[in-house]
Order: sequence, then C-alpha cells, then structure tokens
Amino acid sequence: MAERVLSHKRLSSIKQFLYGSPYYPEHWDADVRSQDAQRMKAAGWNCVRMAEFAWDRMEVEEGRFDFSLFDETIQSLGKVGIKTILCTPTATPPVWLTRAHPEILRVDERGVRMAHGSRQHACTTGPLYGENSRRITSAMAEHFAGNPDVIGWQTDNEFNCQFSECHCESCQDGFREFLAEKYNGDLDALNQAWGTAFWSQTYRSFEEIETPRPNLPTHPNPGQKLDYARFLSWAVTRFQAEQIAILRQANPDWFITHNGIFRHIDYRGQFSRDLDVLGYDVYPFFTHDPAERVLNQCFNLDYVRSLSGNFIIPEQQSGPGGQGPYFHDNPEPGEMRRMVYTSISRGADSVLFFRWRTARFGAEEYWCGVLDHDNVPRRRLHEAAQLGVELGRVGPEILGTYVQITAGIAAGDFDANEAHDTLPFDLPAPRLTAQSVWRALFRRGYPVGCVHPADDLSDLKVYFLPHWEVVDPAWLPNLQTFVDRGGLLVIGARSATRGLENAVTAETLPGVLRGLTGMTVEEYGHQNHPESRPLAIDFAGNRVQSEYWYEVLQPEGDTGVLARWQGRYLSGQPAATLRHVGRGVVVYVGTYLTSQVMAGLWPLLQPLCGLQPLLPHIPLGMEVTLRTDGKKKLWFLINSTGQVISVPVPSGTDLVNQRSISGSLILPNNGVAVIKN
Ligand code: GAL
Ligand code: ZN
Repeated sequence: MAERVLSHKRLSSIKQFLYGSPYYPEHWDADVRSQDAQRMKAAGWNCVRMAEFAWDRMEVEEGRFDFSLFDETIQSLGKVGIKTILCTPTATPPVWLTRAHPEILRVDERGVRMAHGSRQHACTTGPLYGENSRRITSAMAEHFAGNPDVIGWQTDNEFNCQFSECHCESCQDGFREFLAEKYNGDLDALNQAWGTAFWSQTYRSFEEIETPRPNLPTHPNPGQKLDYARFLSWAVTRFQAEQIAILRQANPDWFITHNGIFRHIDYRGQFSRDLDVLGYDVYPFFTHDPAERVLNQCFNLDYVRSLSGNFIIPEQQSGPGGQGPYFHDNPEPGEMRRMVYTSISRGADSVLFFRWRTARFGAEEYWCGVLDHDNVPRRRLHEAAQLGVELGRVGPEILGTYVQITAGIAAGDFDANEAHDTLPFDLPAPRLTAQSVWRALFRRGYPVGCVHPADDLSDLKVYFLPHWEVVDPAWLPNLQTFVDRGGLLVIGARSATRGLENAVTAETLPGVLRGLTGMTVEEYGHQNHPESRPLAIDFAGNRVQSEYWYEVLQPEGDTGVLARWQGRYLSGQPAATLRHVGRGVVVYVGTYLTSQVMAGLWPLLQPLCGLQPLLPHIPLGMEVTLRTDGKKKLWFLINSTGQVISVPVPSGTDLVNQRSISGSLILPNNGVAVIKN
C-alpha cells in the first residue's frame, strides 16, 4: 500500500460523490423496509452506510453467522443504484461475548467495570477482544468480498467517542508493551524522560508501571500522562489496523474510512495513514446559539481538513438530536441543506445524513433523522431530495479540488493537544486558541484555514502558531523556509516551553523557537482575575486588554519591539517583537491571541503580509470559500446571516441554481450559490 502523505491540500480517493444516509434495516420490519429503496432513490441517495451496531444480528452466537438481512437489503438497494458502505460492528459486542468474557469490558479510572447495555463498552486494547474483532471482520469481509454493491468500509464507529481512557488489565499490559517498545526496553531512559526522581517514582521494571489515574490521590506524573495518551492512540490504531488488513486482503478495491474525531487519537499519524480517507461526523446543533453554530461548524471542518486533507461525512445532522439530558433545536427550513454546503465548501467529498429514519426505540429514539417516527414524508425529506438533485451537478465538480487558503493557523497536533491537557492551568487549549485567531480572520472574509506546522505552507501569506507548549524541533526547517520565502509567522505566548517528553525545557524561552524569533522571555505570569488587575498592550496607539497570560520580552540582535505593555509594574516593557528574516517576518506576541488582542494586532500585521479577502465587500457572517484543482474554480457563497443579502461575486455558472451570474447576486437567508469559472 502506498504511504499516504497527510496534508490539508490532500485530495480524497473518492470516485463518486456519495450522498445518502446511515441505514438500520435491523430496526424495521419487512413491510417498512420494502419501500425504502425506492424512496431513497427518489431522494437522490446513491449510498447508505450499514451494520455498525448489528453484531448480534450477524453473529448470533460465537462462530454462527447470519448475513441474510444485510444481503437482502444491499441487494434491494443495489437494484436501484444505491451502494453500501459496511462497518465492522465492534462498537457494540453482543451479550453472549460480554457474558462469557467480562474482562473485555472497559474499566474507568476508579476501577469500575462498564456494564453491558449501551455501547462502546469493550476495550479495544486486549488480545481477546482483538481475536473477536478479527473473527467478525473476517467473516464479514469474506462474505461480502464479491458483492458489487459494497463499495467500502467504515472501521468500528467513532472510536473513543463515549470512552477514551481505560484502565483494564489489558490496558495495563498494553501500556507496558507500548513503553517497552517506545523506550527500546531501556528503563533508565523512561525514568529519565518522566523525571521519576520526583516524588520517589523510580521504576525498576516495566512490570511495575501502571496507567496514570488522575486525582487518585493527586496529580500524576506529566510525562507518564503524555505517554499514556500516546499509548491510547497506539492501541486503537493497532486495533483498527488489524481490521483494515483483513478488509484489504478480502477486496483491495474497497475504500476504508473511519468517522472521527475524538480524544486520544492521533489523526495526523498512522491512524489516518492507514485509511483511504478520514471521515468526520458533523453535528452542528450541539452548539445551541445559532450564530455560534455556524462559526463552530466552519472552524471544526477547517480543523479536520488540517489533519489529513479532504474528508467524507458519514454522518451529518439532519434533525434535532435528543438523548438523556438534551434535545436540540429543530433545523429551520433550508438549514439542513445549507449546512451540507458548508461542509462541502470546507473539504467534504461526500455527505450522508444521520439517519434515514428516526428509530422508535433504543437510547436514541429521539435522535431525529430525515424521516420522522411515523415514516411520513415531510420537509426534511423534501429538502434532502432537492439537495440530491443539486448535488447531482455539484458533486462531480468538487471531486479533485481542494480548499484554497492564504492564511493558516496551527490548530491541532496530537502532542501539543495532549501535553496541554496534562497541565491546562485554566488556560485555553490549542484548539480553542486557534479558533479565536481563526474567528478574527474569518469575520474579515479572509480565506483562512488550519494547517499543521509540518505541512505544506507554500500558499500561505501568514501563519499563526498560537500557544503550543510542545513544539517539535523537526518542524523548524519548514517554518524557516516559510519565512525565508516571504511569509509572516506569528507566534504566541508559552510556545515551546516543554520538550517532547513533557518536561520543561532547560533553554531560555521560547526554547527551540528562540533562533527564529530573535528574542527571549524574561518573565511571565498568569493573569488570574484580570478584571481586578487589568493589563493592556499598546499596539501603535491601539490599546487592548490582555487576558490569561503576560510575558516580558527581550529582543535580541536586530529584533524590534512591535508593542508594549501598559499597566501594573510592566508599563513600557516589550509585549510583542518583530524580526525580519529572509524575505519574511517573525512576530512574537507575549500574551494569548484572544479576539481583543487580534483586534489590536491585526492592523499591524495586515500590511506585513498583504492578506486580502477572497472577495471584496462580503457582508459579515457570509461564508465564502474557493475550491480549485489549480485550473477550475468553484466559489461557494453561503448565506448564514439570517437575512437576504446582495453580494458582488465573480462571473460564472451557478451550479446550484443553474443560471449564469455576472457581477452580483441576491441570496435569501440559507441561500447558496456555487459559481464555477
Ligand atoms: C454519533 C454516532 C451515531 C449516533 C449519533 C447521534 O456520534 O456515531 O451512532 O449516536 O452520534 O447521537
Ligand atoms: Zn482497557
């Protein structure tokens, strides 16, 4: 298998734009099922996803398989041209398995074993569960290998969604195995890396090491915690790889995906390299405030694209979700469709609506799908059908294109995220800080996205590395090249303060970034209760309040001062520095890049990088993105402002509304245009 290079600009291998939904034939009797194929076809479906929770239906007791329900369903859908993505059903092992082997159940940090009766109750680390996973995967793979209507697979379902940290016996063994491999069996190296001299933690054999349990009795070792997070990702990656090997062997033409994204999985690592395409489940209504909802959906999509490039959406919210304590807003007319365009505009190469029909029973009996409980077609189905027709035109055009951006933000890296979570200090995590920078640029209409510092930065005029405590020195040459070629690199406070083992760097801050930034951090402090002791930064006369953190900076060599502190004992001290490097510029800002700080900083940065909005005069809140293959351009204009707007647009053909456009466009609320030129 060719090694997959993960990049925000990576295209997907999806050959046909897939549109449809997850489908659960096991929830419905034959009567209801018999109408589904025709109704799906009428709605424009060309794909369903099935079987992720149907292990008990397919393996009725150990080794006795019955795939008849899925055979029939796949066939009847296939007859009308609807293809199937199957799933390995390992998120829900049947009761015959958990009864016979309760040791496969997950164990929480207090030692409490999970019960049968919901989902994700089994731990993916141990050999016994691995054996069971391989058996059902092999049986399914062999059975469906020759079925022309099965086009691909999803491994499991949302690994680590409900439960990500496990402390079962298999995890104790697995953690030791991982550590022995990582440290090449060298215990001294482990003791050194974790700093076990502190609190008398020195280990004499790998057997003595256990998974870290937060607050039992108090804070565990941060090096141990970071390695534990790496172990969790390694274990789930291994579990998935075993399934993938079986599937690829049975039929190398199948594509393989997995629907993320959740805690403790390195989606920029082997986990995603093993997949053909990453999947991302889109549930915007978890954000209750509608204005915030749009921003969160857009940012989350940009975040996911930064992990491995274009992705597919195995589940996109159609109706309100209701579970236990919450019940979401009902999408208003046009919203469901608009949110699909938002997903496509930011990197989705296929979209399935969760789910075809709302179940009448089970823990998600109020999680509404395209059809309601009573199976009566209503506006969600009609809207999906309208979209199906439009996507017949838009879908083929977007495949082979990537989202073009000229402003990038470092938003997600496994080590940076996990290291932060080991010592959060009540400070915003990398993803949140990235989001505040992203918002500042998004609101101004700039083509902004998220990009990892090891990725291709060549299209970018400006790149932000907000506040990653762990910065891998291996990324430095890439950052240096970006700046040498004329880029503006903006680095925020607390960057590079710890090494890859999560211990504090011995170097003067900003550690490995000192050479690039040409400055040092002389002193720093947490801003607890900033309202009672305010501190401001003066950006060329534009004074803004800082929050969370301050650093007193000391420029070195020819580095200049861009902004100074105002207030407390800090007045006049450098708060931001600027250094010309090659044809570019490096700016270091000694506080968090909040929206207030961005408001003061951006007017100074814009002339340094010359960043321009994608289109001039775009109203606030309007979504504008560009997907291109280098020649063809697809301009997405999405009105989520809540009002009718008139916008100046490029001339071309609007693929959604089948009309030619020149100069300007009036878009109703929830209106969408995709202009090709
Ligand atoms: C997803 C999950 C689905 C369903 C949905 C609605 O996280 O993959 O199986 O649970 O949420 O809750
Ligand atoms: Zn476990």
